[in-house]
Amino acid sequence: MKKTLAKFAAAVALSAASVIVPAKELVIGFSQIGAESAWRSAETESVKSEAKNRGYTLKFSDAQQKQENQIKALRSFVAQGVDGIVLAPVVETGWDRVLREVKRAGIPVVLVDRGIKVSDPSLYTSLVASDFVFEGKLAGSWLAQKTHGIANVVELQGGPGAAPAIDRKKGFGEIVDEFAGMNIIASQTGEWTRTKGKEVMEAFLKSQGDKIDAVYAHNDDMALGAIQAIKEYGKKPGKDILVVSIDGVKSAFEAMVDGDLNATVDCNPLLGPLALDALEAAIAGKEVEKWIVQKDKINLMQDAASMISSRKF
Ligand code: AHR
Repeated sequence: MKKTLAKFAAAVALSAASVIVPAKELVIGFSQIGAESAWRSAETESVKSEAKNRGYTLKFSDAQQKQENQIKALRSFVAQGVDGIVLAPVVETGWDRVLREVKRAGIPVVLVDRGIKVSDPSLYTSLVASDFVFEGKLAGSWLAQKTHGIANVVELQGGPGAAPAIDRKKGFGEIVDEFAGMNIIASQTGEWTRTKGKEVMEAFLKSQGDKIDAVYAHNDDMALGAIQAIKEYGKKPGKDILVVSIDGVKSAFEAMVDGDLNATVDCNPLLGPLALDALEAAIAGKEVEKWIVQKDKINLMQDAASMISSRKF
């Protein structure tokens, strides 16, 4: 009898030790900018699928390009008592007040892909993003080399006030300034979209016509719109007018294979795993790097065919 009881006690102890206490299921709020580009959709998908893999509940909010919608979303996440927030901020400024409210509620915020300017850096935990100035420099250096420093360039800017639009302009401009023969003869926003990129390029072609040697677009979608405009104008994109852009999405690789786009700088949108790692660490009270930088490189037309099948976005 004693032996049986001892066996029973041992079995209970063993099963108690092997019981896995499930971690608390995290509830995360994700305030996304919208769906303006293929890059943006890839980023949304990356965060959503990573949250699903980890068993999180994800509260997703699409701001339709409006900061006021993002501010509302953040307040609603606070009201719902989420454990953490992922924010892709549409513009750089105007976040102090709402982020102070989020901080007071003790909710960590991880920024994805775009930085912000705040009076107090502790208002967010970490930024998971590329170095956009560097991306602009990569595009500018390639163009300077290709044209031996002599080119009239038109620039399609991203959305006004957005970190990548500001920084990509800055990085490219710094390279252009090094060459007396390189000039940005027109620069306007194409709002990150193919439609607007085409429309603005049509206007550039109408006013600057044959003077244009190259297009620098802050993203691939606008470059693809510009390519269409150049074709309709009767010129050959990639040859008569060089085209360089940023993002590295699949359709840009297709355009390079077709000989229409000369180069695209990589910008990684698959930020879900890194962003949620950072958020999990912050929720657990661990130290997180302030800027988790993504390393980018430039992809050229001549290499596109051999690379296209391995592209993930
Ligand atoms: O913030 C990243 C930029 O936003 C991408 O380059 C662009 O395509 C997007 O919409």
